[in-house]
Amino acid sequence: CGRAPHQRFAALTVPGLAGTPLLYQLTAKENPAWLFNGNNPYYPPQPIWGYEGHTPGVTTPGPTIHARYGQSIICRIRNGLPQNHIGFGSPEISTHLHNMHMPSESDGFAGDFYSATQRGLTLAAPGTFNDHFYPNLYAGFDEFGGRGDPREALGSLFYHDHTDGVTAPNVLKGLFGRYMIFDDLDTGDETTGLRLPSGAYDYPLSFADKRFDSGGRLTFDELNPEGVLGDKIIVNGKIEPVLRVAARKYRLRLLNAGPSRFYEFALQNTGATTVYPYTQIASDGNLLPAPIQNVLRLRIAPAERADIIVDFSRFPMNTTLYLVNQLTQVDTRKPGVLQAPGTRVLKFIVDRPAPAPDLSQVPSVLRPLRDLPNAAALAALPVRTWVFARNSGMWTVNGQFFDSLTPRASINRGGMEIWEFVNPDNGWQHPIHVHFEEGRILSKSVNGVNVPIPMNERGRKDVFVVGELMTVRVLLRFRDFQGKYMMHCHNLTHEDHAMMVRFDIV
Ligand code: C2O
Ligand code: CU
Repeated sequence: CGRAPHQRFAALTVPGLAGTPLLYQLTAKENPAWLFNGNNPYYPPQPIWGYEGHTPGVTTPGPTIHARYGQSIICRIRNGLPQNHIGFGSPEISTHLHNMHMPSESDGFAGDFYSATQRGLTLAAPGTFNDHFYPNLYAGFDEFGGRGDPREALGSLFYHDHTDGVTAPNVLKGLFGRYMIFDDLDTGDETTGLRLPSGAYDYPLSFADKRFDSGGRLTFDELNPEGVLGDKIIVNGKIEPVLRVAARKYRLRLLNAGPSRFYEFALQNTGATTVYPYTQIASDGNLLPAPIQNVLRLRIAPAERADIIVDFSRFPMNTTLYLVNQLTQVDTRKPGVLQAPGTRVLKFIVDRPAPAPDLSQVPSVLRPLRDLPNAAALAALPVRTWVFARNSGMWTVNGQFFDSLTPRASINRGGMEIWEFVNPDNGWQHPIHVHFEEGRILSKSVNGVNVPIPMNERGRKDVFVVGELMTVRVLLRFRDFQGKYMMHCHNLTHEDHAMMVRFDIV
């Protein structure tokens, strides 16, 4: 905290790091008069927390960062939150870039929170800013031993507050934003590489449900340790907003920004008489090996991402469409049942022809995956079991509560392991997130009986939904860096109520 980047990173040598990192600056701040109004005039201006970037104005989601492989970034994140604020949230921050492969001190560890006067147990001193180094490199070696394999390139990431014990209120108050990373395949250009819809047609959509009181003011239920459900689903900081689109292909990058709700999205006409299929090209931070065509509904758990392609050229001019959530949820601990037609969350209006020919395409091959090691090699790997359970109003992993000072596992750098996530109960589900490394799901079983792994969960992932009475086995390899990282439930209320583990790479 508070040190200049050249002092902090002078001694860091990263293989392949060329040139000078770009310095980006974000300030976490209050916006005293945010309007949640999208299509709904009722909600009054009110304080939210968000980020201000290089242009003035505090927004939630914060500024979207577009990054590129080979160009590292230092992101200086200032804490400009009011220290005496009204309402929920706590004005310390520790900012995690979800799914980035980065050094430990840049990871936004829960115990690394800071303000001018407060600090987490894992920091030496309070401070007003922290410098985060985002290498934007293929890892020095890939999961099975090769070097710099572009098959492991990331895509849709997001940053969010991760302060110990108050992540749910701080993120609900608005502390998150998007981060996209491009490379030679997924170039962000419709004439090179895969030629996916790009630029203005590559559009992030972040979903975060929020509860409002009778005066239309944002509230947070501090007393419920099971989860928080909103009565309104907010898209990019607005209630039921409208997205006016051109008649051409779009890449929509869906993010479930939490805190607790699961969604299942369908695209419908106004009368809800027709459901239109779309194409999924990425899940979490990775392109899939091949697009999944004709998707009618897509489930995303807290912190999961899905990139979809919608071709609006198939609709006549002035068509109105709705993205609806068809998954009910009344229990804060788990999703409910599917119900058509569902709740409208976003309105699309196809209001203009494509201004130029649509050069984008959806190739039949995206980013191929490496083959998994064979059965004999897998059988020889160490297995680490993590059991997620309830305990006296709190949530535990292997019977223990999170402690920022105590690692629950020491992992040899470079080691490959199978992590087995176990949910022994049938009353709740946990979307489990592992920092630093993605994994490949090897198997899922319910009550000891194997269940199929859906197509869109067969790529590299960083969130693994452990359903009721389910065991999920995941292959992971811990590369490059050393230090403290976390694994936790991304139902942010479960996370705050201690369902989190510090693990150290040594
Ligand atoms: Cu998205 Cu540990 O976080
Ligand atoms: Cu959970």
